Amino acid sequence: NWSMESFIDDTVVELKRSIGDQRVLCALSGGVDSSVVAALIHRAIGDQLTCVFVDHGLLRKGEADSVMRTFSDHFHMNVVKVDAQQRFLSKLKGVIDPEQKRKIIGNEFIRVFEEEAEKLGHHQFLGQGTLYTDIIESGTETAQTIKSHHNVGGLPEDMQMDLVEPVNTLFKDEVRKVGEELGLPQEIVWRQPFPGPGLGIRVIGEVTEEKLAMVRESDAILREEIALAGLDREIWQYFTALPDFKSVGVMGDARTYAYTVGIRAVTSIDGMTADWARIPFDVLEKISNRIINEVDGVNRVVYDITSKPPATIEWE
Ligand code: XMP
Repeated sequence: NWSMESFIDDTVVELKRSIGDQRVLCALSGGVDSSVVAALIHRAIGDQLTCVFVDHGLLRKGEADSVMRTFSDHFHMNVVKVDAQQRFLSKLKGVIDPEQKRKIIGNEFIRVFEEEAEKLGHHQFLGQGTLYTDIIESGTETAQTIKSHHNVGGLPEDMQMDLVEPVNTLFKDEVRKVGEELGLPQEIVWRQPFPGPGLGIRVIGEVTEEKLAMVRESDAILREEIALAGLDREIWQYFTALPDFKSVGVMGDARTYAYTVGIRAVTSIDGMTADWARIPFDVLEKISNRIINEVDGVNRVVYDITSKPPATIEWE
């Protein structure tokens, strides 16, 4: 019979014992898993923990600030924020293939993290948000809080760090409970799934600053209106995407030639299959009006009414 309080107490004791007076490095993503790991380790060893938060410029509106506010201001953790927006943008210049984009973003993330780790000096341990599900999927390994590093997550062998994986006996819903108990904010604990490559795969085709702004602003409007309508816990995942074409419209007396925003909203259990969410028409109307009025460069809004399969949830 699993009790969250005893899980937290036992884990903190075990972390203290195994980490001793060594230092730990964590990559914060803003997601619930890495956030809970950071909070747990911080509770155990305080300032021996340093978190690195890489802002790759592909996060949603307000997300970077919210992560910093939570961990640095509220929890008083050592958090190093790396502003790497320009680096990612220049690597993505001219790239249109979705898998190529994923690869570039993933590799660049590791490179930035490595460089930062180098600057921060020796850390014996690397904290990771591996879940029990990841362990089952990856084969026969058994869960333990600490194990030596076997090139997990593509990190280079010569980093010579031992892994600390304090939630690798938990499922997602248990991680959320632990997060709530540790006092993490609702927006982190209940964050909808968000892909690692972020908005980079929601701008279809080449990623530019201008297009990222259109996705980021329209997505913020969508999230706001879904929350206002009280649908945010009901819909599993919702976001906007920006296709790579312009179409004709009319604004006042003038003809426009501008981009289209696609709204994607799905219900699902695990993301493997999904159905499009039946958002009420009046909510869609309000979202559409606001996007057209408030987002520069957009003159048309469409709603994706495809299930998965045959479509995927993301457009890339
Ligand atoms: P699809 O588009 O394949 O997405 O139906 C299923 C779920 O996975 C998320 N997703 C990703 N997550 N890196 C991630 O971390 C990725 O490259 C990636 N691609 C898709 C997607 O948001 C959805 O929740």
